[in-house]
Amino acid sequence: MIDHQNVLNEACAFIRDSAAIQPAVAMILGSGLGGVAKQIERPTTIDFADIAGFAASTASGHQGQLILGELEQQPVIAMAGRLHCYEGWNIDQVTFPVHVMAALGASRLIVSNAAGGVNPKLRVGDLLVIRDHMDWIRGVSKRAVRSATGSLGRRVNLYDDEMSAIAIEASRVENFLAMQGTYLATLGPNYETRAEYRMMRRVGADVVGMSTVPEVLAAASSGMRTLGLSLVSNVARPDAASAANHDEVLAAGKLGQTKLESIVRTVLRS
Ligand code: 6GU
Repeated sequence: MIDHQNVLNEACAFIRDSAAIQPAVAMILGSGLGGVAKQIERPTTIDFADIAGFAASTASGHQGQLILGELEQQPVIAMAGRLHCYEGWNIDQVTFPVHVMAALGASRLIVSNAAGGVNPKLRVGDLLVIRDHMDWIRGVSKRAVRSATGSLGRRVNLYDDEMSAIAIEASRVENFLAMQGTYLATLGPNYETRAEYRMMRRVGADVVGMSTVPEVLAAASSGMRTLGLSLVSNVARPDAASAANHDEVLAAGKLGQTKLESIVRTVLRS
């Protein structure tokens, strides 16, 4: 724990030396969604590999960079690329950047991901505002979540009502009306069987992915308010014509960038 604090301080000092900005809002940009990072004005870009305590991302479509700058006149910090438990990182490594962004001053988090659409109403390219989640990573990841995320107690409302309402309203104004729903996180890296999609639908999941839950838990334990957004990159249903694949996920990300960007901008303005 003392070690964790030292490395955290070292990472923060290094980032402060690199960029004269105190971020108010943090963003995590998921698979194929890094384009929003390119919109950041007067950017300072730092490779994860250069920051103490940061594991370097290896998943394809993930850049592994931290970008500080301004968007809609707000000081922001964005992760272009994230770490996943399926890459072999433990929960402490996956959540470390969130603790760093919180320690740098970010009090709000916008977290995005590319996910499979379990709910039959969802189409490829749809955006979903995450209002709750199911954690199927816990118990199968390499290490217990306790040290990184603290003890959150029971029945925490992890996704901010106000930020979610703003996101929904923004999607309505932009004419793509985002649905609200439940994100189910699996360890991955493999996608699921038809039987598993049937099960996921029956237990009430709307989308399925391999990330986000560890970071949201870490954000909550750091006192950050969180908005979660899933871009539906493929359908995750027993009747789907073909199995999900990573290329499809990246291609849909390109389509969804504009939707994500308009929501992010609206939330930052409000
Ligand atoms: Cl279909 N499953 C999981 N577990 N993660 C995904 C996905 C499916 N599509 C995108 N991410």
